[in-house]
Amino acid sequence: MLGNFSYVNATRLYFGDDSLKYLNKELPKYGKNVQLVYGGGSIKRNGIYDAVVEILKKNGKNIFEDGGVMPNPTVEKLAEGIKTARENNVDFILAVGGGSCCDYAKALSVSVNCKEDPWDKYYIRFEDPDCEIIPVGCVLTMAGTGSEMNAGSVITNHAQKLKIGHVFKDNVMPKFSILNPVFTYSLPKRQMVSGIYDIFCHICEQYFSGNDDNTSDYIAEGLMKSLINSSYEALKNPEDYEARSNIMWTATWALNTLISRGKSTDWMVHMIGQAVGAYTDATHGMTLAAVTLPYYRMIMPYGIKKFRRFAEQVWQIDTNGMTDEEAAEAGLIALETWMNNLDLCLSTGELGVNEYMIDGIANATIILNGGYKVLSKDDVKQILRESL
Ligand code: NZQ
Ligand code: ZN
Repeated sequence: MLGNFSYVNATRLYFGDDSLKYLNKELPKYGKNVQLVYGGGSIKRNGIYDAVVEILKKNGKNIFEDGGVMPNPTVEKLAEGIKTARENNVDFILAVGGGSCCDYAKALSVSVNCKEDPWDKYYIRFEDPDCEIIPVGCVLTMAGTGSEMNAGSVITNHAQKLKIGHVFKDNVMPKFSILNPVFTYSLPKRQMVSGIYDIFCHICEQYFSGNDDNTSDYIAEGLMKSLINSSYEALKNPEDYEARSNIMWTATWALNTLISRGKSTDWMVHMIGQAVGAYTDATHGMTLAAVTLPYYRMIMPYGIKKFRRFAEQVWQIDTNGMTDEEAAEAGLIALETWMNNLDLCLSTGELGVNEYMIDGIANATIILNGGYKVLSKDDVKQILRESL
């Protein structure tokens, strides 16, 4: 295992079907004025809103509602949330929802006391906060992003056609997250599979980098195998607790920085997917699914041994007698079959991309250099053309 690193994770987790009660344990540690962040209304339909509000009231909190956080939260919504927080001297932010609510809550936490334009400061200049940060807690209702135990926060700016993620420092991570797998039962199938693919992609983005023998890769393979297995169980029965709990726990470990230790990490599927998202506002996991195969087929020759190992270890393919190229391709075919079985969207055209957008999407794609091949803008355009 190469690379020097430190490791800490600042978020306390409560996991399980009785985990919401631990909100009672956490709330007394924070101030009275709570900004309650949630999305478009799913938590009102499935009863989670009522359960959370009851606990907040029991703990004597003043609740300031901040609903309507959209999937792929925007700078305009952030400005609205900042206003609510400032007007009410909010001293704690509780996000109840998926990655969008959790990301938005983190963006809010560093923006309320920020003297500058938060978009420019955090998402264009990538600066760290130098103001007081409002603590965030999370009650997770969708498994996918890992936002519940990381410092990432992705915000979309439609006017500038940019969707950008800032990975902040530990002090922006949720102080605690409550993970009740039962809360994910009400997810529509499209959101469930989209989250499952997001998890898988997070693991791949870290796995497909480096050529050293690295413990992180063995953990990654275990996480991928568990996810594939549970995805089929959850498809058969969305209320299979064991499967939904495995998916939720895998999501957290896929992106809480553990399996990136000692790795250079790739993240180009996300960079291209996010640029597609900036143009289409499509569901995050679907944007990733749609660009994955053309991307991996392009970089495969540069990381051929790892792609062979992916086929053997993750998909359990007997590659005896196969060349590296044949084995690697067999792994990608197995991946494609699984993606089709999940009904993922494998075409950016179906997400609203057309050929006239390709130059713009390629320009909006941030190019990183941790993977097996550093892409040129022409490479990105080729991937996008093949993904249509
Ligand atoms: O808004 P509501 O009505 O709550 O409905 C949501 C939303 O429509 C619905 N939903 C969530 N939980 C539900 C439910 N519906 C029924 N029952 C439930 N229990 O699902 C829809 C999608 O929710 P959202 O939070 O947008 O999904 P996700 O968790 O995939 O988050 C996506 C955002 O996270 C960012 C993405 O870019 C995107 O903006 N990401 C954040 C990352 C991070 N912090 O590290 C990394 C990821 O790669 C990703 O980029
Ligand atoms: Zn993702």
